[in-house]
Amino acid sequence: NLEEFHVSKEWGFVLPDPLSDLPKFYQPWMDIANNLTHLIEHHQLRCEVNNMQLLSTGFLIGHKQLRLAHMALSFITMGYVWQEGEYNIAKVLPKSLAVPFCEISKIIGLPPILVHADCVLTNWKKKDPKKNLDIIFTLPGGDSMKGFFLVTLEVELAAVQGIKAISIATEAILNRDDDSIKTALQDMAESMRKMNNSLKKMDEHVDPVTFYGIIRLFFSGWMDNPAFPEGLLYEGVWDKPRHFSGGSAAQSSTLQSFDEFLGICHNKESAEFLHRMRDYMPPSHKAFIQTITAGPSVREYIVFSRNPVLCELYNDCIAALVVLRNYHITVVTRYIIITSAKAKVEKAKQNSSSQILQNAPSALERRGTGGSGIMCLLKDVRDATKKVMIEKI
Ligand code: ALA
Repeated sequence: NLEEFHVSKEWGFVLPDPLSDLPKFYQPWMDIANNLTHLIEHHQLRCEVNNMQLLSTGFLIGHKQLRLAHMALSFITMGYVWQEGEYNIAKVLPKSLAVPFCEISKIIGLPPILVHADCVLTNWKKKDPKKNLDIIFTLPGGDSMKGFFLVTLEVELAAVQGIKAISIATEAILNRDDDSIKTALQDMAESMRKMNNSLKKMDEHVDPVTFYGIIRLFFSGWMDNPAFPEGLLYEGVWDKPRHFSGGSAAQSSTLQSFDEFLGICHNKESAEFLHRMRDYMPPSHKAFIQTITAGPSVREYIVFSRNPVLCELYNDCIAALVVLRNYHITVVTRYIIITSAKAKVEKAKQNSSSQILQNAPSALERRGTGGSGIMCLLKDVRDATKKVMIEKI
């Protein structure tokens, strides 16, 4: 039943073998999307986009072409809006970009902004026969930007075993097949530990100053962003500016699926944000999460069964998820909290030793790029996870 929701047994929520090229007709988009770092750093992207012709979306065939087109136009959009930093935002997206971007977004059910489903799930290709992975599109930030995408992709791939376990366990609960539930819970905990190990690679591949000073801005959106309160006008599409949230890990269907399966209840504020982020996922993945919610509760099954082995395995899953969420807090502390404090010091100096930090954007120093109160959200979500531990039977 995973396939029904476009969830792959091998790749999970990651798009299997994405395309990296569109039909020749769309070369004007691809030429720009493939050259974003250069165009942005030389302040030429806005000019290129302003001169771009308006292309029909009618020649895009099939889901993979549409996903690649959405990704290309979303990368171009982020570059266009943020090319000159947070004090010189482009608040109008020209027709030639806005019209096809919104049409494609409507067809595939994603918002017209860069989402996790673009920059992580669709943004990869095999680099060599050894199956090392590479990215398709990038934005300023060099190897750190590439590292951020690939490490996040690796976390998603480490989750595949856990996603498969959800569907196996759901079936097993209905059949009261305790052995299969046990294996599924073990797989799930192991998968979460692998996700944590993958997340640890952020440290080695992403430099905090580059992340905070350069990369983050390009994930920022136009909702709950103090730097951009009025929203973006999509010329030729809507008469008034629209608000859309920037990229966020909350847009990953993986953790939201685990939470629903394990019966974790988030507080009102976190739940609202997490639920809203489901509209930033491919609709079939959102439907997958909703099906888990509607399905049988593993926690209730275990509590009623009073089976101590199942209880211990369930708690082991929760413990692994708490470890993962704690590590996520560590990552945010290092990359955002500590680095924003350093940036403040640099900004106050007359002769700063770090140009990047001195010029770092500051609107989102306390928020995630998705607009959430980042630390509160992560801690509340972690605490809600701890709460579902089952007391010893
Ligand atoms: N959501 C991440 C951040 O807040 C990318 O920086």
